Amino acid sequence: MVVIGAGIVGLTTAYLLTEAGLSVTVLEARRVGRQVTGRSTAKITSQHSLIYRHLIETFDVETAKRYADANCAGINLIRQWVRELGLDCDFESKHAYAYSTGQSRIADLQFEAEAAAKVGLEAELLDSAPLPFATTGALCFKDQAQFNPAQYLIGLARAAESKGTRIFEETRVIAVDADDGWQIKTARSSVNAKHAVQATNVPIAGPVRYDRTRPRSHIAMAFHIEQEVAIDGMFIGIDEPTHSLRMGRDQDGLLLVVLGAKFNTGHEGDVAQHFVNLENWTRENFQVGDAAWRWVNEDYDTADRMPFVGQEPKAPGLYIATGFNAWGISNGTAAGILIAKQILGEQPDWASVYDPARKASKNFNKGGDSQSLVHSLDEIEAGGGAVMNLGRGKIAVCKGDDGKPHAVSASCTHEGCIVTWNNADRTWDCPCHGSIFATDGSVIHGPAVEPLPSVKLPPNWL
Ligand code: FES
Repeated sequence: MVVIGAGIVGLTTAYLLTEAGLSVTVLEARRVGRQVTGRSTAKITSQHSLIYRHLIETFDVETAKRYADANCAGINLIRQWVRELGLDCDFESKHAYAYSTGQSRIADLQFEAEAAAKVGLEAELLDSAPLPFATTGALCFKDQAQFNPAQYLIGLARAAESKGTRIFEETRVIAVDADDGWQIKTARSSVNAKHAVQATNVPIAGPVRYDRTRPRSHIAMAFHIEQEVAIDGMFIGIDEPTHSLRMGRDQDGLLLVVLGAKFNTGHEGDVAQHFVNLENWTRENFQVGDAAWRWVNEDYDTADRMPFVGQEPKAPGLYIATGFNAWGISNGTAAGILIAKQILGEQPDWASVYDPARKASKNFNKGGDSQSLVHSLDEIEAGGGAVMNLGRGKIAVCKGDDGKPHAVSASCTHEGCIVTWNNADRTWDCPCHGSIFATDGSVIHGPAVEPLPSVKLPPNWL
């Protein structure tokens, strides 16, 4: 069997199936754990902000309980593997807190506490969160955990390889076609398999389209901080704009990891301003040093806040996992468990909450337009980028720090939407299904698999 993608879903599936005796090949377009999982804040928790009341009111207690059970299964497996496989990944047990800063949201924390109790999760209501700024209440899930997600996946990949999994990095899949099972094509070769798993954050290059998910990006930063003013726990604010907080570390010491504003991928014309806002908010509320790391992470939301995972009803033997709604560590591990069990002919009790065939709004993702249109090259500053007309088409032009322009087609190679310039990451982001391209047009994140073609600019533009 073939797993496409070496993130948390792909490697969990691969390890479980290799252990069960199957022949498993993993194809990763870039490097193990460096994409979506590696960019997450990696909270290993069943506290997904306020979700259980939502699931009980939208569906019923049984559905909410199955969602909790699925995520607890994911958390338990991570704990087990860290211990048994000796994965060196800064794993630490931590309490998880959802906190409010306004009086009007205190009741929501109380409702969530009642909902958590109904699904069998222990949650404690507090008058405030242990944070250095004023909060009006908090809901604590004790003994959750955090880790370094990239290190976890690198360790898991080594453990899987030691059992016989074959992992190929820098191997981008460009087509997944039905062919007496599935034929998976890369630029250099192809492989046939009875089962294919699209563990790519959103399905790519195959017969499955996912307009039932919507791409969403978050701004994240990590600041150096001294131990005396460090926080203890993992925190998610329930007020808008949401802030998510936890500690981490790099080679230079302790870090405060802060997640800020979210926006639909490719719908924001000034991503850099969000970083300015997040840094200002952090410095107002914490004594931090330099901003050591900054990044944008991307995930896919669903209308009912539950992922789609499992065998695609219209494509037997093809498995998908998408729509983690920013809670992809526990949900992603549960997804790996579910897919592995389905391939082995089993079904966990909680499988129905992830059912890819369940009813879902077809209009959830309305797509979008480029936010970067300009009329002339002069409007693009050195280091910047924008979309312009050239003949009958649109081109995506970015200028180097020396002011020299470079152009690629602005039409996303997935389905043709016009990309937006991300002025923080210096990438071209698609407002329809979240593909992300580098300035040279190469694919960073799907569902697109082909690069944006290079465009020769007229000599009088240079
Ligand atoms: Fe679908 Fe760009 S990602 S059109």
